[in-house]
Amino acid sequence: MKRESSGSRMELLYPDSNTFKVDVPSPCCLVIFGASGDLARRKLVPSLYRLNKNKTLPDKFFVLGVGRTEMSIDTFRESLKLGVKEAFPRDFDETSWSEFVVKLQYSIVDYSIMETYVRSVKERLVQLEEEYNTGGSRIFYLAIPPTQFRSVITNLGETGLAKEEKGYTHIIIEKPFGRDLETAQELNRFIEKYFAEHQVFRIDHYLAKETVQNILMFRFANSIFEPLWNRRYIDSIQITATETLGVEKRAGYYEEAGIIRDMFQNHMLQLLALTAMEPPVAFEDEWVRVEKYKVFRSIRPIPLGRLDEHLVVAQYGKGIISGEEVPGYREETGVSNDSITPTYSAMRLFIDNWRWNGVPFYLRSGKRLHRKMTEIAVRFRAVPHLMFSKIMSDDIEPNSLVFKLQPDEGISLTFQTKSPSSRMSLNPVSMQFSYQKDVLLDAYEWALLDCMFGDQTLYWSQDGVEATWALLTPVLKMLEATLSPEQIPTYPSGSDGPKEAALLLKRDGRTWRPLGV
Ligand code: BG6
Repeated sequence: MKRESSGSRMELLYPDSNTFKVDVPSPCCLVIFGASGDLARRKLVPSLYRLNKNKTLPDKFFVLGVGRTEMSIDTFRESLKLGVKEAFPRDFDETSWSEFVVKLQYSIVDYSIMETYVRSVKERLVQLEEEYNTGGSRIFYLAIPPTQFRSVITNLGETGLAKEEKGYTHIIIEKPFGRDLETAQELNRFIEKYFAEHQVFRIDHYLAKETVQNILMFRFANSIFEPLWNRRYIDSIQITATETLGVEKRAGYYEEAGIIRDMFQNHMLQLLALTAMEPPVAFEDEWVRVEKYKVFRSIRPIPLGRLDEHLVVAQYGKGIISGEEVPGYREETGVSNDSITPTYSAMRLFIDNWRWNGVPFYLRSGKRLHRKMTEIAVRFRAVPHLMFSKIMSDDIEPNSLVFKLQPDEGISLTFQTKSPSSRMSLNPVSMQFSYQKDVLLDAYEWALLDCMFGDQTLYWSQDGVEATWALLTPVLKMLEATLSPEQIPTYPSGSDGPKEAALLLKRDGRTWRPLGV
């Protein structure tokens, strides 16, 4: 590892990337429901293209795109080609595309009519499996709106497609997994009627981000931090995921979801669990998921009678993002002009266990803020006695350790040093580890590969889904029953968020970390 020094910053740069290797899964096929949709075009197929280009997909492999839209195979392939070019412009080349495109097939299915599954999925798969010699391992990816989950799952089950006969059968489900505890349990009842838990892969693309996976390695492969990782040495933890984007073309979904369902029930609480969990018995899916579940179960229920001490929600108003004027949430296409859907939330949570008792976890996430940034900042306690107090007027900044998840992925540790040439003046400096600019596998590439290997570490367990909904459902119900369009705070687009969020921490004598420049 190379060490560079520049002024007061020390940089630990990541070593040569050539050492990077991933295994290649055994032959299989991927059936994408919703193949003419946005997710397939922007994320799934570009990821598969890159995996294929980098020889990390099995040679014997094909994709059967399934959709309701009538189109020829050429139109289907052409629209995906554009998607790949947009997603990975630097990775696109015609030779790799021509090697990949022959693996893309398309079938039209009416999701609610079982006979079409027999003809367009079941029989087609048998024929394609023979043609591509993939054996019988199949992955079904539901890249469709949640309103269609039920009929697709039922029809897959009733036509016998959920069975594992000549290989594995996995199903990947995109969030939202329900919209509250009850609907999440109901959805699961449908799934478990046809699929066993080992077949079900509930995707959370945050978990598959390289830097998120690194949290566990950092915590459990280094001995110097874990002894400090508890209430004795840690003052508080801040988890931030902010975006500059607004609701874009997803108002239909977002109006029903809002920030708590869209970001907290899944990504934010997963980040919290990775930060707070105990070491698992082994780095294996079942053990990691057990430890995360224990964290979810230990989060203290948010007291509904004192919601304002624990929760802030707000909506973006109009403002300026990157020099451009942007509309407020209620002016966006598809959003009702008296919507109470929050686009920002800040939460103050506590974990009731021996390790974390009394340590606040502050979580915040929002759309249309002035910077896209995801990080976990661990703030250590101040020194117990300030022996410099006679010669220094200010308190000194305690140490902090920050996992920068995006952008500028890396880890930084700040500490105090004596300022050169001064009698007694301290200066906070940071030691930085930076991931290389280009992360080698993106989140969907990791997630797809892991599903092919049958590894559920990066996926949600149903227990986890239910525990997080159990925490948030009462809060959501309370908000929906009490918020009024006049009451919900707003924040200007391009700002750091609502002033109410600052008050949440001020009460505890703390402040949010700046969102940076
Ligand atoms: C998705 C949410 O899960 O995550 C989106 O539905 C959000 O609303 C996105 O924009 C953020 O993901 P990322 O990877 O861009 O931080």
